[in-house]
Amino acid sequence: MITINEHYLKLQASYLFSDIAKRVAAFQEKNPEMEVIKLGIGDVTRALPQACVEALHEAVDEMARDASFRGYGPEQGYGFLREAIAENDFQSRGADIAADEIFVSDGAKCDTGNIQEIFSTDAKIAIPDPVYPVYLDTNVMAGRTGTFADGRYQGICYLDSTRENNFVPELPAEPVDLIYLCFPNNPTGSSITKEQLQKWVDYAHANKALILFDAAYEAFIRDESLPKSIYEVDGAKEVAIEFRSFSKNAGFTGTRCAFTVVPKECAAFDSKGGKHLIHPLWNRRHCTKFNGVSYPIQKAAAAVYSENGKAQIRELTDYYLKNAALIRKEITNLGFDSVGGDNSPYIWIDGQGRDSWEFFDMLLNKAGVVCTPGAGFGKCGQGYIRLSAFNSYENVEKAMARISDALK
Ligand code: MLT
Repeated sequence: MITINEHYLKLQASYLFSDIAKRVAAFQEKNPEMEVIKLGIGDVTRALPQACVEALHEAVDEMARDASFRGYGPEQGYGFLREAIAENDFQSRGADIAADEIFVSDGAKCDTGNIQEIFSTDAKIAIPDPVYPVYLDTNVMAGRTGTFADGRYQGICYLDSTRENNFVPELPAEPVDLIYLCFPNNPTGSSITKEQLQKWVDYAHANKALILFDAAYEAFIRDESLPKSIYEVDGAKEVAIEFRSFSKNAGFTGTRCAFTVVPKECAAFDSKGGKHLIHPLWNRRHCTKFNGVSYPIQKAAAAVYSENGKAQIRELTDYYLKNAALIRKEITNLGFDSVGGDNSPYIWIDGQGRDSWEFFDMLLNKAGVVCTPGAGFGKCGQGYIRLSAFNSYENVEKAMARISDALK
């Protein structure tokens, strides 16, 4: 008899963004004349940077000729991309990361979801609340939690991110083994300082824990004092793995390219306390289950680091940050308390006592605007909604005017 992985039965309904998409589709079917403005899922709307488009075309032409055609590439990514990443994203900021510590992949969602499988199933997990649902759901699937009760899975150490702690959680009150952090944060848009991040790195050293640091939104940081990488913090290389993506900086949500940094010093332990380096384990996993990102896409990603590419990415992220500033200004004028939007494309809005899903439904039905209900990111998200700055400036202006009318 074939039996299923019963941990899947503990999962709550469908994946958050699929659920929202279904609700929006149902609304659009009922209201075909209504133009819906999507400020929900963080999906970019502007075209790929020209430097990436040119590199993509050139690479496709190479693939069209026998002499320059390429078959399987290195599973970890081509040297030209790994070297450009190491130099520009890390070494230029004083973080000592080498090209062979970078694993190129097709998405940070997959990487943050897959990484947990190299750790023991009884590892104690610390997860912020609210949180990007992938971290939590993949640990539920792996059996690291009990059942879901009163808005939370048993066995997880939740790290509350609230107005009281400025949406940067405190260190765990109980010992934990694996810690998920994301800054600039999804969903709250909050940032972490170097000093705050240092405390987490020190905690990981003291407790033989490991930090999984999701830096997918680093390109939106404008405050130069904020760390873009956890490796800008002393001692992080031994205790942290970092995830990056080309989705939000270069608009690759549909093009797919990302990378994970596993420093050679980074270690975990066996049940007898023996120390094991993670790099060869992740390399083994990556080579076994993944055949690399396609050559044209890696060429396009490498173009992000050309002089033109850098300027175009700055322009793209500035554009979305201008949207974010507008959302923040308008929502503040409407009397709402909010956070984010300055070093992040997300604005986290306190609904002043409204239930998250009711607020979502109200904005959809009365304003034709899609947000993401905070409760979908965890118990601490109840009462909040998240607005994303990924849309055209004109649509953001229109959305904010409609929200203002709907609230009158
Ligand atoms: C989000 O809206 O939270 C993100 O777009 C999700 C993702 O990047 O997978």
